[in-house]
Amino acid sequence: MKELYEILEVPGMLTQNEVEYLYRLGQINSGKGVIVEIGSWKGKSTISLARSSIAAGGEKVYAVDPHKPLAEEGYFEDTEAEFRKNIKEAGVEACVVPMVMTSEAAAKGWNQPIRLLWIDGDHRYEQVRQDFLLWEPHVIEGGIIAMHDTIRKKGPKRVLWESIFRSDRFQGISIVDNITAAKKVKRASVLGKLAKWLTIGFRAVYIAARKMRLPYAKPVGRWILRRLTT
Ligand SMILES: C[S@@+](CC[C@H](N)C(=O)[O-])C[C@H]1O[C@@H](n2cnc3c(N)ncnc32)[C@H](O)[C@@H]1O
Repeated sequence: MKELYEILEVPGMLTQNEVEYLYRLGQINSGKGVIVEIGSWKGKSTISLARSSIAAGGEKVYAVDPHKPLAEEGYFEDTEAEFRKNIKEAGVEACVVPMVMTSEAAAKGWNQPIRLLWIDGDHRYEQVRQDFLLWEPHVIEGGIIAMHDTIRKKGPKRVLWESIFRSDRFQGISIVDNITAAKKVKRASVLGKLAKWLTIGFRAVYIAARKMRLPYAKPVGRWILRRLTT
């Protein structure tokens, strides 16, 4: 799809599979809530989500990011101007609401239902946990929570395990490269739990194989996880 290939030219950390996957997630539950993004940087994921939302029904994407340097996480520049420029050039300005502030500040007084929550902000454990705890209550039943860096970074991995994998409120786990997404439900079904633990089991094997540097562990594991879960 031409418009998705253009997004790959925007600086950012997402793979092509991840850009395409966010585009798919952005169309689920259209009409039932907005999309919230924690961590926009220069707008790559924002553009994928906004293009997707426009194609589905046009609900806003709230893009939360202070855009300030954060040396502890490896960000040394103010990215607000470049973010706004990229959003404008991509033609999605009208669909995006930039919230130039921290996730904590943006959550104060928030009262809109969220159909997709995308967490890709500060990856340290306490901060990811806080992002999850502040925003998850606003996600509708049947809504999706997607998190980035869930294979290689300790903070998102731990929150994923504690708050999503071990919770009966989530099923339908899907893993595309470094994104893990899950559907919020009232209570996971027996089949839902079985499928979830099968996926989690395979994910554990994949991570171990990567750590052992087994040949082809990364491409083969990623391929199987995508087939298994999406
Ligand atoms: C990995 S980057 C986001 C990448 C972006 N999603 C993309 O696809 O290109 C992480 C971003 O999180 C932002 N960030 C750091 N702390 C934050 C906080 N407390 N609330 C919201 N965003 C935060 C940083 O400013 C940075 O731009």
